[in-house]
Amino acid sequence: MSPAIDVRGLRVSFGAHTVLDGLDLEVAPGEVFALLGPNGAGKTTAISVLTTLLAATAGTVRVAGHDVSSAPVEVRRRIALTGQSAAVDDMLTATENLVMLGRLSGLTPRAARDRAAELLARFSLSDAADKRVKTFSGGMRRRLDLALSFVVVPEVLFLDEPTTGVDPRSRLDLWEVIRTLADAGTTVFLTTQYLEEADLLADRVAILDGGRIVETGTPAQLKALVGSDTVVLHGPDDVVLREIPTDGSVAGLRRVLDQIDDTDAAASVTLRRPTLDDVFLSLTGAPRDDARIPQEIA
Ligand SMILES: Nc1ncnc2c1ncn2[C@@H]1O[C@H](COP(=O)(O)OP(=O)(O)OP(=O)(O)O)[C@@H](O)[C@H]1O
Ligand SMILES: [Mg+2]
Repeated sequence: MSPAIDVRGLRVSFGAHTVLDGLDLEVAPGEVFALLGPNGAGKTTAISVLTTLLAATAGTVRVAGHDVSSAPVEVRRRIALTGQSAAVDDMLTATENLVMLGRLSGLTPRAARDRAAELLARFSLSDAADKRVKTFSGGMRRRLDLALSFVVVPEVLFLDEPTTGVDPRSRLDLWEVIRTLADAGTTVFLTTQYLEEADLLADRVAILDGGRIVETGTPAQLKALVGSDTVVLHGPDDVVLREIPTDGSVAGLRRVLDQIDDTDAAASVTLRRPTLDDVFLSLTGAPRDDARIPQEIA
């Protein structure tokens, strides 16, 4: 099967400033792919090229089987992108916005209404269904914006930091919607600042730094690059007495635990798993700018 996204040698320069410098990546149909990188790495720039909104300086990009520069209309017909706030009409209600987009996308009036009601429920907006969008809070508007990108199930869905500014409850709803879509065959390409989000959602993760992909793999493979679990011995007052690396196997863990004897005076033992933050630090030599961890998965 040909890839849903095929990027070769993508270069994007703004004047003398080269943002993407030979980007290569392939995403299989139905895969959830997360692009991670520090602020300013070029994630949004990459999404803009992949969604036909920005022309590449060099390289080839094919999405859903079509070239973004020679067949942009064919590509647009098969994709959806979040962050299209411009598509939200303030003077219409939430339902009207969703129904209108459904009708424009070829749904029957009945199907468009059903889809609108389903999405409003999914994104906890049912109570606000008949309110004009101009009365919405920022968070409600963001959720409606996300709901709009799910009106018609696209072949490839692009989400640029989909959960930034979204409350924890809606974030869980969104993750569920993304997984459901992917299970039904939609390819999902997302960027996120929450490495834990990539860990939970993505089949594969690519790390963007210095205009190139510096590493690609499953979350587990990337974690393996920075070693396995570490046994941490805590003394009284939670002070860390010792950290003992394991090889990740049950037998290895047992050997480590056997080494601990009463003379260690350990009050408690915890197991620390490598996080994608550790991966990022070891690959790029820099911590992320934003080290916040969403509460519910911390
Ligand atoms: N239209 C433009 N003209 C000039 N420079 C631009 C333009 N768009 C982006 N840049 C520059 O390209 C670089 C990458 O920006 P981009 O928005 O793609 O990064 P990002 O990875 O999405 O960052 P963030 O995590 O903050 O969203 C930045 O240095 C930015 O200033
Ligand atoms: Mg961005």
